Amino acid sequence: MAKGKPEPFRIKMVEPIRLISREERQAALERAGYNLFALKAEEVYIDLLTDSGTGAMSDNQWAGLMLGDESYSGSKNYYNLLAAGQDIFGYQYIIPTHQGRGAEQVLFPILIKQPGQYVISNMHFDTTKAHVELAGGRAINLVCQEAFDTEKYHPFKGNFDLEATEAFIKEHGPDKIAFIIMTITCNSVGGQPVSMANMKAVSELGKKYGIRVFIDGARFAENAYFIKMREEGYRDKSIKEIVREMFSYAEGCTMSCKKDAIVNIGGLIGIKNDDELYNQARSRLVPLEGFVTYGGLAGRDMEALARGLYEGMDFAYLEYRIGQVEYLGERLREGGVPIQYPVGGHAVFVDAAKMLPHIPYYQFPAQSLANELYLDTGVRSVEIGSFLLGRDPDTGEQLKSPLELLRLTIPRRVYTNNHMDVVADGLIAIKDKAHTLKGLEFTYEPQILRHFTARLRPVG
Ligand code: F0G
Repeated sequence: MAKGKPEPFRIKMVEPIRLISREERQAALERAGYNLFALKAEEVYIDLLTDSGTGAMSDNQWAGLMLGDESYSGSKNYYNLLAAGQDIFGYQYIIPTHQGRGAEQVLFPILIKQPGQYVISNMHFDTTKAHVELAGGRAINLVCQEAFDTEKYHPFKGNFDLEATEAFIKEHGPDKIAFIIMTITCNSVGGQPVSMANMKAVSELGKKYGIRVFIDGARFAENAYFIKMREEGYRDKSIKEIVREMFSYAEGCTMSCKKDAIVNIGGLIGIKNDDELYNQARSRLVPLEGFVTYGGLAGRDMEALARGLYEGMDFAYLEYRIGQVEYLGERLREGGVPIQYPVGGHAVFVDAAKMLPHIPYYQFPAQSLANELYLDTGVRSVEIGSFLLGRDPDTGEQLKSPLELLRLTIPRRVYTNNHMDVVADGLIAIKDKAHTLKGLEFTYEPQILRHFTARLRPVG
């Protein structure tokens, strides 16, 4: 079993974790309404709910916190962040926001000019889709078909289906399309990368039809790593060179910096050189997020972020990081647990529809699996399937997600491979009793973003 590269760091501070008893876990799960979002973090042993804001900062980032300049306007940390963003992305303007969705709420209403305009992505993240819809737009996902065949190897399962994208533009007309947003890596289909060739082709489509192209860059460095390792012509380029080329194919970006920039809070908007767009974004920023030189962040947060942007691109770190995700993926595959293959950047996605074929989509197989994994091992994971997807807003029918996935999301620089073994052993043991797991039904179902607060119970 390839264990991947050793950690390129030493550990100088630890946070104890504790496994509570099975009886306590059973009681916690019932209290939470069989919804792991409602657990207290202290009831969790190994927390793989998200890689967002859960990374461990470095000594260099912690030192940066002490250099926080908490001026309302013009703090030196803002200028450090601006310089880092200009250097890395090649964009003239960098606007801080409190996190990724802060960037979305500022930028999207400027870009969506009329209600009903479409926004095309390979696959929108759920808050991104929500911000498109709040701004009156309609979110369309046109990821390549390979993404939906979890067993088939494809180096870039996050790619846009270019033919479908062009056909959609022709069918509806460029005026009906507000913008295209390339989600790199593509979280919702498994943290799957987008190739440089695909990004370039999307940018060319944008030019051909006069449609603006942006990037949702939450996991930009992991995407660059996959390009370096898998795409011809990039092996000898540095991650920074690859990142610069990726961002050249868009006129701006929104970014949750809680992922690859390894901070616990923070986001940004990047704008290549459009002064008018910058001025519009700046004006909206003030009432929504804060003055343009802090955007909802403390000076110290911006300092940690400026430093984290570089750390997230360090090749030795990325090799270790992706190696750990691959290690967990390989252990599961060897143990006969079906996963999205190859693994993506930030998580292993278990194919729960394959593992629990007896549970129909409307009884949420991946949620049932998440609950069993918590009960058996204290590991918290998250459902990415029909429970997350929700109902058709017009008919009220439960929608069927093309994939029923259980996401095992690995925080950055936090857990060791011994922790990964706990997760793998737990899932492999569940595989042998999978037929005994039960589906779930609602006891409380809120209308909007229901998966965060819904309550469930096992069927029958
Ligand atoms: N875009 C992508 C691709 C994301 O994965 C996320 C967040 C966001 C935007 C929003 O950023 O959370 O900083 O406001 N993803 C987290 C996750 C929450 O668990 O995948 P945010």
